[in-house]
Amino acid sequence: MRFFIDTADLDQIKEAKELGILDGVTTNPSLMAKSGITGAKNIEDHYKKICEVVDGDVSAEVIATDFKGIVSEGEYLATLAPNIVVKVPMIKDGIKAISHFSSKGIKTNCTLVFSAGQAILAAKAGATYISPFVGRIDDINWDGIALIRDIAEIYAVQMYDTEILAASIRNAKHIVDSARAGADIATCPLHTITGLFKHPLTDIGLEKFLADHRKGNPS
Ligand code: G3P
Repeated sequence: MRFFIDTADLDQIKEAKELGILDGVTTNPSLMAKSGITGAKNIEDHYKKICEVVDGDVSAEVIATDFKGIVSEGEYLATLAPNIVVKVPMIKDGIKAISHFSSKGIKTNCTLVFSAGQAILAAKAGATYISPFVGRIDDINWDGIALIRDIAEIYAVQMYDTEILAASIRNAKHIVDSARAGADIATCPLHTITGLFKHPLTDIGLEKFLADHRKGNPS
């Protein structure tokens, strides 16, 4: 499984990169606004900065919701850096645009996916990635991980190339469960990635190893 970080915060992106386990970045308009990045020019510049830090794919989301608008915005975003992936919402015009981008060799991430049917449409249109929102499905008392499992099964049976990018990951368990369910990638806030480190027996074990070492090697 690959790890993307789900943030527009450059410090967090750099911290994840320093861990040596970062494969890419996803952003969305809410994350940009949360980092205080507003206005088309600032947003563009910010994407360029992120792409300079990260070698892997960086998802940049379109704001337009009509076919022509999505295509012109997406084609422009794709010129900002070679690792830009155009993030497009799961709507009719979005699917049309994904099919267009796919024919032009522009990578896409179909976002706001909440059902297996939507995942099939995105794969048929040639999306590079789909983003099923695990946490938001759990929020309405459905099963986000079951959706990942379902899509993984369908994509394997149908031999679709589209990769499953588990999104709206809220905790370390979501990452582990997504890996087991067949997600190709999890895109996570930094705290969920660092949450994977935590185990009390690791802390207790390390403390004991160091204490025993000190006993045999008094300073
Ligand atoms: O990748 C999508 C993600 O940013 C949404 O996460 O926590 O707002 O549901 P959340």
